[in-house]
Amino acid sequence: MQFKLVGKNISGLTGGCLAVGVYEGQVLTPLGKEVDQAMTGLLSDFLKDIGFEAKCGNSVFMPGHKDIKFKNIVVVGLGKKEELRPDVVRQASAAALKKAKEIKNADLFLEMLGKEVLGDKVAKYLVEGILLGNYHFDKYKRKKETEIEVSEIKILEDDSVQDTVLEGQLLAEGANFVRDLVNEPGNVIRPEDLAQRARDLAREYGLECTVFNEEELKKRGMNGILAVGQGSAHPPRFIHLVYRPQPALKKIVFVGKGITFDSGGLDIKPEQFMKTMKCDKAGACAVLGLMKLVAQLKLPLEVHGLIPTAENMPGGNAFHPDDIIVYNNGKSVEIDNTDAEGRLILADALIYGSNLKPDYMIDMATLTGACMVALGRLTTGVFTENQALATEIKETGEETGEKFWPLPLDEDLKEDIKGKFGDIKNVGSRYGGAITAGLFLKEFVGDKVKNWVHLDIAGPAFLEKPWKYYAEGATGVPVRTLLEWLKGIK
Ligand code: BES
Ligand code: MN
Ligand code: ZN
Repeated sequence: MQFKLVGKNISGLTGGCLAVGVYEGQVLTPLGKEVDQAMTGLLSDFLKDIGFEAKCGNSVFMPGHKDIKFKNIVVVGLGKKEELRPDVVRQASAAALKKAKEIKNADLFLEMLGKEVLGDKVAKYLVEGILLGNYHFDKYKRKKETEIEVSEIKILEDDSVQDTVLEGQLLAEGANFVRDLVNEPGNVIRPEDLAQRARDLAREYGLECTVFNEEELKKRGMNGILAVGQGSAHPPRFIHLVYRPQPALKKIVFVGKGITFDSGGLDIKPEQFMKTMKCDKAGACAVLGLMKLVAQLKLPLEVHGLIPTAENMPGGNAFHPDDIIVYNNGKSVEIDNTDAEGRLILADALIYGSNLKPDYMIDMATLTGACMVALGRLTTGVFTENQALATEIKETGEETGEKFWPLPLDEDLKEDIKGKFGDIKNVGSRYGGAITAGLFLKEFVGDKVKNWVHLDIAGPAFLEKPWKYYAEGATGVPVRTLLEWLKGIK
């Protein structure tokens, strides 16, 4: 998809489809008003006649007019003007594209929706909405002849926003890269395939890449990854990517859960819970996306991407309930349930990450159904001792349209994961399952790591039905938010 800045002079432009915005109360944007005047008030009359409600995401079209040289006018709702936020712009531009495709018009001109409120930055939000909204994982589907492909969007603005457009393009394409990878099924992406993607990325963007195979994992005593992976015919891996600019302001470690398929293992999942478990590598894919973006944007930060990856399967050699795993930091873990496998592989990665002595260590994982019970399907749970950092991430999410909410690392619940025969066990009680998972992870974060954050993305990483500009399937959460957060690091 290309974006072209065509200037603001609509009287000099001609084309297929022109999209303008309207606020609640049928208040047209300044450019919408210009169009309306050129059409001697036909546009505002039309909106009145049909009683158009300018709710965010709503859209309608009308035929053009001889004084305005477009075949169709698409009107998109922007909600209440005083409540306009960046994500409304994303939703509106996605809605405009959807409507244009619906009326089979691929030639779309888009005004800078909401510029009168949010300024030039809307160029970025527009582009993100278009690219995120245009994404569908359909590479395995036979093409429908009738489907409209839009290859270029014309934005009604001058060249001054070129960089802002590029920024939006990079971010959204980064998110879509993650979505493409998460959406690949478990028969296509296995641990070694994830490692190969990491090597490819490293070659393309000049990153350092190290992959530990089983032998190396054994040598290093990364026993959580080995245990979880041992029931599968496709052996586990540990991936370490580095982006190392000179000079670097800070050192950041990202850790992503890379379970390429979570069957539950011997504690096998019932069918309704096993379906969609190809999404259990979403954290790992997000880390790959982040590494790609920091390299593309040449951020002045040393960034490490750590990915423990395994397939959780039952089998003749699978790990069992009651097994005891001894970790590198000396702690032993008793297996209560083989389906609580994410924390077991993350533990190895957190120990490894702590040894890198980072300024920040952030892990992201589709870790618990309990987090979805607590916060719903759409919100990432944020666990950290640094409340200011939790707030920073949550507020960044308000701009990117990704939802975050803090949950407590309640030390009083630590007794829930006390082991009978090991130091700790991998499952707590039915209550606060997302919190006890967080407390488990904390056992493997070194004392000297001050700014550790655990993000439980079990809900928002993968949607079972479309939402906003997202089709069903992977969303790329939390890549856009973390990237924006990185950009703010001094
Ligand atoms: N991968 C799942 C968590 C999950 C659930 C992710 C739903 C995305 C959507 C994780 O490995 C798991 O199975 N967790 C168990 C833990 C339980 C056995 C303590 C869960 O949440 O049921
Ligand atoms: Mn599981
Ligand atoms: Zn899992």
